[in-house]
Amino acid sequence: MTSINHNLVPSDLDSFWMPFTASRNFKDAPRFIVSADGMYYKDSNGHEILDGSAGLWCVNAGHRREHINKAIAEQLEQLDFAHSFNSGHPHAFNYAHRLVKHFPDPLNHVFFTNSGSESVDTALKIALAYHRLKGEGSRQRLIGREKAYHGMGFGGLSVGGLVKNRQAFGLLLPGTDHIRHTLDLERSAFSRGLPEDGAELAEDLKRLVQLHGAENIAALIVEPVAGAGGVIMPPQGYLQRLRDICSESGILLIFDEVITAFGRLGAMSAAEKFGVTPDIITTAKGITNATVPMGGVLVTDDIYETFMSVSEPGVELNHGYTYSGHPLACAAASAALDIYEEEKLFSRVETLGEHWMDEALALKNESKVIDVRCLPLIGAIEVAPRPGAPMQRGIEIVKKCYDKGLWARNIGDAIVLSPPLIITKEQITEVFGIIRESIQETD
Ligand SMILES: Cc1ncc(COP(=O)(O)O)c(C=O)c1O
Repeated sequence: MTSINHNLVPSDLDSFWMPFTASRNFKDAPRFIVSADGMYYKDSNGHEILDGSAGLWCVNAGHRREHINKAIAEQLEQLDFAHSFNSGHPHAFNYAHRLVKHFPDPLNHVFFTNSGSESVDTALKIALAYHRLKGEGSRQRLIGREKAYHGMGFGGLSVGGLVKNRQAFGLLLPGTDHIRHTLDLERSAFSRGLPEDGAELAEDLKRLVQLHGAENIAALIVEPVAGAGGVIMPPQGYLQRLRDICSESGILLIFDEVITAFGRLGAMSAAEKFGVTPDIITTAKGITNATVPMGGVLVTDDIYETFMSVSEPGVELNHGYTYSGHPLACAAASAALDIYEEEKLFSRVETLGEHWMDEALALKNESKVIDVRCLPLIGAIEVAPRPGAPMQRGIEIVKKCYDKGLWARNIGDAIVLSPPLIITKEQITEVFGIIRESIQETD
C-alpha cells in the first residue's frame, strides 16, 4: 500500500462535514493544523500558534507527549482490541483501579465511554435506573441549568441550556427542566476567582422541587464551572447549597466534569477543589490527554452496590458501548495519569494562579472589556457586543490573535482561555499581551 501524506492541503472541502463549523466561511479562508508540540500548533503555512485552549479543553499535559505515544504504540503491538461485554482485558480493570483513587470517596467505580456526550447520557441513564431499583420509579425528571453545555447526545442536549444547540432538534427528552444560570455582570463583573455574590441562586432548585415534587426528580446535572456557555464560575457557596438541597430532596447530584477533571482547576476534580462531593461525576477529554477518545463516569459505592445487589440476575445495567474500556484508550489514559502524577502538573495551576489572574484582570482597563472571569487556569475576557452585531467583535479579536500567534476561542463576545497546564509564566504574559493588542486593534 502506498502511504498518503495527510498533511497536504486538501482540495476537496465538501466530503468531510465539519462539526460545529460555519463550513461556508471556513471554505473562504481554510486553516489547516499539521503538527503540534508542547504548547504549540503549526499550520500548513508554517505559522506557529500557542495553543490557548488546550485543543478543546483536553490536551492538559501539552501536545505530543512521548510517554503517551509510546504506551499507545506498545498496546497496539500487543492487543489492538477486545470488548468488555461479559469478557475483559486486564488494562481496563487496572486503569479503573488507579483512576478511582484520585476521586473523592465514595466515588469508587467508573463506567467507561468514548466521549463527554456519552458520559453525560450514561450518567443520566444510571440516575434513572438507580431510582427505579430503589423503588422510586417516579423519579424521572432530569434537571439542568440555563447556559449549560452537556454535549450533543439527546440526553445532554435536553438538560443543556444553550438555545442555538437546542432549537433545531425538536422536543428533545420529555420531563426536563432548568434552574437559572449564575452569570451576573451587574453584581460580579471582574471577580477574582469565584464571585462573592450569588450562592442564593442555588435556591432556584427549590422552585423546581416545589413545581414538580421531589419524588418526581431523578437528578440535577451541573458543570461546576460552566465552559461552553461562556465560562461561568460558581458563586462562593453555591455548589454546596445545591448539594444540600439535592441531599434533602433525594435528588442525585451529577457534576459534569468533562472540562474540569484532570487538573484544569489544580486538582483532579472540581469536586475535590471545591470540597463538594456529588453522586456522579462525568469525565472525558483530559483523561487521555486527548490522544484516544475516552470518557468515564464515576459513581458512588451506594449507586454501584444498588445495581449489584438489587437488580435481577443477569446484566445489571443494560448499557454500554463497543469501545467502552478500549485497550488503546486505557493505555493512553494510564500513561496520561503517569504524567499527571509524576510531573505534579496540577500543582502548577496553583503556582501559576496569581500571575494568571493578575494578567487576566489587568485587561479591565481596556475600554471595550465589560467582564473578566478568571480562575486558574480558565479565563474569559468579554468585550461589549457591537451594536446590532453580537459576536462579530469576538470573532475579529480571535482572528487577530491567531495572526499574532495565539489560538484562543470566542464564545460570543467572550475570548475564552484554557491552556495546557504546562504553560510557563512568560507564556501567560505573552497570551494576555496578544489579547490586549488584538482588542485594541479591533473597533
Ligand atoms: C461540560 C461538557 N460536557 C460534555 C461535553 C461533550 O463532550 P464531547 O464533545 O467529548 O462529547 C463537553 C464538551 O466540550 C463539555 O464541555
